Amino acid sequence: MKKGCLCAIMALAVLTMPAAIVQGARSEPAPAPAPSGGNGASSAAQVTPIILTTSSGLQAHILPIGATIQRLIVPNQDGIAEDVVLGYDDPKIYQDNNSPYFGGIVGRVANRIANATFTLDGKIYNLGANDRGNTLHGGFNPLFENSTWDVLESSTNHVKLHFTSPEGAQGFPGSVSVNATYTLTKDDQLQLVMEATADKATPINLAQHSYFNLNGEASGLDVLNHDLYINGDYITPVNFDQIPTGGLIPVNNTPFDFTTPRPIGSRIKQVTFPPPYVGYDHNWALFGLGWDAASKAHLGAISNDVKLAVTLYSPVSGRYMDLSTNMPGLQFYSGNNLNGSVVGKGAYAYPVYGGMALETQVWPDAEHEPKFPQSILQPGQTYVHKWFLRFYTKPAGAASAHAPASSGAAVRSAMAPGPANQVHTASIP
Ligand SMILES: *[C@@H]1O[C@H](CO)[C@@H](O)[C@H](O)[C@H]1NC(C)=O
Ligand SMILES: *[C@@H]1O[C@H](CO)[C@@H](O)[C@H](O)[C@H]1NC(C)=O
Ligand SMILES: *[C@@H]1O[C@H](CO)[C@@H](O)[C@H](O)[C@H]1NC(C)=O
Ligand SMILES: *[C@@H]1O[C@H](CO)[C@@H](O)[C@H](O)[C@H]1NC(C)=O
Repeated sequence: MKKGCLCAIMALAVLTMPAAIVQGARSEPAPAPAPSGGNGASSAAQVTPIILTTSSGLQAHILPIGATIQRLIVPNQDGIAEDVVLGYDDPKIYQDNNSPYFGGIVGRVANRIANATFTLDGKIYNLGANDRGNTLHGGFNPLFENSTWDVLESSTNHVKLHFTSPEGAQGFPGSVSVNATYTLTKDDQLQLVMEATADKATPINLAQHSYFNLNGEASGLDVLNHDLYINGDYITPVNFDQIPTGGLIPVNNTPFDFTTPRPIGSRIKQVTFPPPYVGYDHNWALFGLGWDAASKAHLGAISNDVKLAVTLYSPVSGRYMDLSTNMPGLQFYSGNNLNGSVVGKGAYAYPVYGGMALETQVWPDAEHEPKFPQSILQPGQTYVHKWFLRFYTKPAGAASAHAPASSGAAVRSAMAPGPANQVHTASIP
């Protein structure tokens, strides 16, 4: 961290931030404390979750550490409210041990960067090699997800958090200013808007890393019974180290085809590459984006419009969750590496497939793949990433809460334009 540089950022922050900067307090504005830049040391106040509520019984507990969703309490089909995200009771654990990234926002670049290095404007940048020689979720400290963010605003239904990733942090160029705003809406959405600006060109790719289990976080059931719909008809295949090969594979006739809802467990045992874990940990090209994705979906062109990317349904609880986004990619991770060694809330040890992540993003290793949607944020541009969840127990138009998820399939395939049957080829021409 370069002191002089940080001072300049802080001076700027003082000018641009509203007077009512709240350092982790529930609602009362503190008397104009100096903003820490979002990298402040922890204190008792800062580890208290901000609790957002709706009259329908939805609750989101947001921790300033990592802008983390610590609890997400959602009524089931019988009106019983249960937590549907994995995590820890003790906020300190989020700070001391970031693995396996429960509930936080990861950055500067979520997912992997090959060989922990990239070149931008002729300059080589070296990052933390924290994943088999590659960078995963930002690599080095200071990690986004275990740093304490500043609370800029909070009310009963929203909280706005701020984090500064200083010049050179994690090895990346320039200083990046990030806002994350969570809002609970009257129609049972938890909306997250991530915004970022930079003073130098830098890759940026933030992702919300919650692990969902719509049966209930401590139900004792894994997510293999969930019906999953993904509005994407290609994946970006990877090598042994989970680095994209640069190509696209149509999901048609593969275990990756969720273009109509089907149980996650129905074909998961066929997903054995890359070893050793069995299950999904792959990036889907959303919304029919295919070979020409880079020209349609670079940061400057990413639309602010959100589209339905995922519908998830638990037949046990009757909970549905829609995920809508403006991002061109989705990493669906089925919790393959969980093995009972991580002990979470209520001293419950999370089993394999005990929770699943739905990380909207640009495509992984975009820093080395010019034909992928690009991650470079230029000074003067604003990165805007929307990750909107909506919860319900009865799909619109369905007679019963137990209606099969596939009842929405016709509508959804009409909404998924992509060329599902395009020629099989391993590389983008
Ligand atoms: C989390 O951040 C702290 C600094 O606040 C650091 O000391 C620690 O190593 C980090 N944890 C992990 C797992 O990287
Ligand atoms: C990473 O390093 C390996 C081994 O040197 C090399 O084969 C590969 O092309 C590199 N990947 C990128 C994206 O530079
Ligand atoms: C973050 O929010 C603050 C205060 O509302 C605002 O001044 C600033 O421009 C925002 N930054 C970004 C990157 O959106
Ligand atoms: C379970 O996972 C942890 C953390 O990834 C790992 O250290 C441990 O070796 C694993 N145990 C088994 C039995 O695979």
